[in-house]
Amino acid sequence: MPPISDSRKRILVTGGAGFLGSHLIDRLLEQGHEVICADNLFSSTKRNIDHLHANPRFEFLRHDVCFPLYVEVDEIYNLACPASPIHYQHDPIQTLKTSVHGAINMLGLAKRLKCKILQASTSEVYGDPVTHPQTEEYRGNVNPIGPRACYDEGKRAAETLFFDYHRQAGVPIKVMRIFNTYGPRMHRQDGRVVSNFIVQALLGQPITIYGDGSQTRSFCYVDDLIDGMMRLMASPPDVIGPINIGNTREFTILELAQMVIEITGSRSQIVSKPLPGDDPKQRQPDITKAREKLGWEPTAPLRQGLSHTVAYFRELLADEIGAAGEKLAV
Ligand SMILES: NC(=O)c1ccc[n+]([C@@H]2O[C@H](COP(=O)([O-])OP(=O)(O)OC[C@H]3O[C@@H](n4cnc5c(N)ncnc54)[C@H](O)[C@@H]3O)[C@@H](O)[C@H]2O)c1
Repeated sequence: MPPISDSRKRILVTGGAGFLGSHLIDRLLEQGHEVICADNLFSSTKRNIDHLHANPRFEFLRHDVCFPLYVEVDEIYNLACPASPIHYQHDPIQTLKTSVHGAINMLGLAKRLKCKILQASTSEVYGDPVTHPQTEEYRGNVNPIGPRACYDEGKRAAETLFFDYHRQAGVPIKVMRIFNTYGPRMHRQDGRVVSNFIVQALLGQPITIYGDGSQTRSFCYVDDLIDGMMRLMASPPDVIGPINIGNTREFTILELAQMVIEITGSRSQIVSKPLPGDDPKQRQPDITKAREKLGWEPTAPLRQGLSHTVAYFRELLADEIGAAGEKLAV
C-alpha cells in the first residue's frame, strides 16, 4: 500500500494507551500522521488517551497483540507489553505470550505490508550486568527461571524474532533497548521507583527505599526517550539496532528520594526495606551508538523532569492529597 503522502503516514502503535505509547502518539499526531492505537488496556487506562478521541486522525482498537491484527499501515511501533514488575509478574505467562506472540503477529503484519517495525526492547535484556556501562554488544546476565524472567526472556526472544524476520524475510526492523524512563502518565501504583517516591511524598507517607539506597539508576525523561524512538524509526535502513536509549547520568536511589522530597516540599521520612530478588545493583547505558547513528542524547535534567512529573501527580491525586493534608492537620 503506498503511503498516504510522503510526509503523512498511517502508523500503528501497539501498547499506545500506556505511559510511553501515549506520549509517542501525541508526537506522531502533532506531526500530522494518522495513528491507530492497539491496546488491551492490561496495564493502562483510557485516561492516557482521553484527550485524543476528538482528533479525526486518531483511532483506538481494543486488541490483544497475542492475536493477529489486520490493518493497513506504513509503520509499526511495537510497545505492547506490561513494563513494571507489578504488572508483568501479575500474569507471567501472559507477559511472555505478549512479548513472543505479539512480536510474531506484528512482524507477520510488517512482512505482509513490507513496512518498518520498531521494537520497544529493554535494558532488562542485560539482566544483572557484570560490566558497566552496558554496550549493545554485552550479552547479559539473566536468570532464566527467576520472577523477572517472563519479562526479560520474553524481550530477549522478541529481539531474536526481530532479527530472524529481518535476515530470513527482509523485514525492515529497528530494535531499541530502553532504559529506565519516567514522566507524566506513569502508573501511580506500578512499583517503579520514581512514581512510588512521588506518590508517597505527595501523600505524606514514608518513602521506602530497598537496601541502603546506594544502588544506582539512570533516569531518562519521557520526552527525550520519545525523541530517540522517533529518530531511530526515521534512521537509514542499515541502522537496525539494537540501540541503547537512556540517560547516562547515574543517581543513587537515596539521592532520588531526597530530590523528590525537596521538589514536593514533603515532610515524608525515608525508610529502608530488604532488597527484592534479582534486583540489579547498577544499570547504566552506553549511548555511543545512539549519539553516532541517531545524533541523539538526553537533554532534560532530572530535577526538571521530576518537576513535570510531580505536577502531573499533584493533579491526579488532588483529592487524596487534600484528604491526607486534613488528616495531618487534625
Ligand atoms: N517505561 C520504561 O522505563 C521502559 C523501559 C524499558 C522498556 N520499556 C518498554 O516500552 C514499552 C512501553 O512501556 P510503558 O512504560 O509505556 O508501559 P505501560 O505498561 O504503561 O504500557 C504498555 C501498554 O501495553 C499494553 N499491553 C500489555 N499487554 C498487551 C497485549 N497483550 N496486547 C495489547 N496491549 C497490551 C498495556 O495495556 C499498556 O497500555 C513496553 O514494551 C516496555 O517493555 C519501557
